[in-house]
Amino acid sequence: MHQTWKVLQPTPAPRPVSPPTTTHSLQAIRHLTLNPTSVTSLVKATTRSYQSEDVRGFDHWTQATFQPLNAVLGGANFTQGSYQMLQNRCRAASQLKAFKLQKCHRVAMATHAQKREGDISDAFASLSGLTPEPLEPRFATLKSELIAGKENVIQESFVRLLEALREEIATVKILKSKAIPEIDFKDIKDASTKFSSEYKRRGAAIIRNVIPPVEAMEMKEELREYIAANPQTKAFPSDNPQVYELYWSPAQIRARSHPYLLAAQRFLLSHWHSQDPQALVSTAHPTIYADRLRIRTPGDNIFALGPHVDGGGPERWEPEGYGNAKVYESIWQGRWEDHDPWEISSRLAVKSDLYRGVGACSMFRAAQGWLSLSTTKAHEGTLLVNPMLKHATAYYLLRPFFSAKKGPMSPKTDAFDESFLSPDNWVLDCPQTSWLQGALPGKGQELSDMLHPHLELNSTMVHIPEVRPGDYVAWHCDQIHAVDQKHEGTTDSSVLYIPACPLTAHNAEFLARQRQAFLEGLPCPDFGGGIGETNHVGRPGIEEIEKASQGRDAGMVAFGLQEFDSSAVGLSDTQRELFDRANKILDFYD
Ligand SMILES: [Fe+2]
Repeated sequence: MHQTWKVLQPTPAPRPVSPPTTTHSLQAIRHLTLNPTSVTSLVKATTRSYQSEDVRGFDHWTQATFQPLNAVLGGANFTQGSYQMLQNRCRAASQLKAFKLQKCHRVAMATHAQKREGDISDAFASLSGLTPEPLEPRFATLKSELIAGKENVIQESFVRLLEALREEIATVKILKSKAIPEIDFKDIKDASTKFSSEYKRRGAAIIRNVIPPVEAMEMKEELREYIAANPQTKAFPSDNPQVYELYWSPAQIRARSHPYLLAAQRFLLSHWHSQDPQALVSTAHPTIYADRLRIRTPGDNIFALGPHVDGGGPERWEPEGYGNAKVYESIWQGRWEDHDPWEISSRLAVKSDLYRGVGACSMFRAAQGWLSLSTTKAHEGTLLVNPMLKHATAYYLLRPFFSAKKGPMSPKTDAFDESFLSPDNWVLDCPQTSWLQGALPGKGQELSDMLHPHLELNSTMVHIPEVRPGDYVAWHCDQIHAVDQKHEGTTDSSVLYIPACPLTAHNAEFLARQRQAFLEGLPCPDFGGGIGETNHVGRPGIEEIEKASQGRDAGMVAFGLQEFDSSAVGLSDTQRELFDRANKILDFYD
């Protein structure tokens, strides 16, 4: 019998209450030491209602009720909203205490302070009104050190890359959306080598009919009901919502733990390999990352996210970021042709979130992905990807080291002349500049024709083929992607963002923090602070995750709510060791 959290009852959702009136009061809560005993004492000292688990919407609270608590907190302005947050934390702490998991709770909350409140615009310069600019001078030094003593081979490799890009671009211009391979879910157990080789070459793929279409449409209906029942839900933009700040809606819970979706992720993750057989990673055991969702409405041109790469900005060049793991070592050695985007052991030590940006992903997300909840074709608010995975990655990494001797004859970015683009026109900077061409601390890197002229983004960003409800779309974590500038369709373009994340020790640590956020109804730890869905009516609990798992363990396990079974048949020694490590991190073992 495996230890599970299933006997824990989900926190009953209270009736909506007024939001906190001051940020000061929320700050007070965030900085409390989350010792279950002290928190409980604090709450009990303030009200007897807590002891009776009464959550009647706090209609009966008065200023006098908060006075004792404010006195304990040294004059903080305690409000109903902040009080409820404390009470939620107290409940979660009590649940953890019941399972002897206080250690996990304290470590998680002590070492990962909540990020500030935000929305998807925080993660991208263009959505938050910033423009590309040179970075602080230390980046010039960093770049120089990265290629020191290898200047000639880097220059030669860049010339080879520009020549290879021409061929690749010509192919993509012919293929367009056909560059993206597809497979039906029923065929993944016997996938063709053609599909797999195309997926690895292009970086993106569509798995059709992962969730039965009727079920996917039910999920969208559930989503609409949850949003309607909770009008306080935050979204971007706030006056015409397209991307919702929701992480724990019934539809998301149902989709992420769905056995079919987990099977699709397992299949996609199987395309990675490890050059180190001892590396503690299992692609056969996906873990859950609680991302947001999009319901893009016809006519929207605000959620117009151009070509970009997630998974960090300057971190890709920094020794403490991706350099920590030597992911791009062959590129820095002047051998971009040897770069293997699908080697997984080198990714385990990556730190992709050095600046703790709001919305910056700190989990190892091997593939980004979403589940379609609508029928959507090109120009209807959908996804575009750059299908030149290896070439484009090498280019956006090497591009910042070079400058053109002579600028373009025409300022029009879609009509750069040959002499401007010619390899002869591009020379290694000496000294290096502090530019990283669209990579800004705490933001995803945004690319453009002006900054990355050789990628010919105008023609190499291809629409994914038409998607239907239940299709799962995935793209590589290094891949350039974008969304339509304008939704020119007539119906909603809706997706649940659900990436494919393998089990690693690092990801297990994230699961522990994410599990805590789930219990409290707070935003997923990567996505900013605030009360999130704490007060949302109909917010699911552990029972709903168990139900979504449909009697199979994987959905609960992937969420960190049930231990990894290290006695299972067929595990490798490495997987067994990883399971033991993950179970300790998740406090299933001492
Ligand atoms: Fe993205």
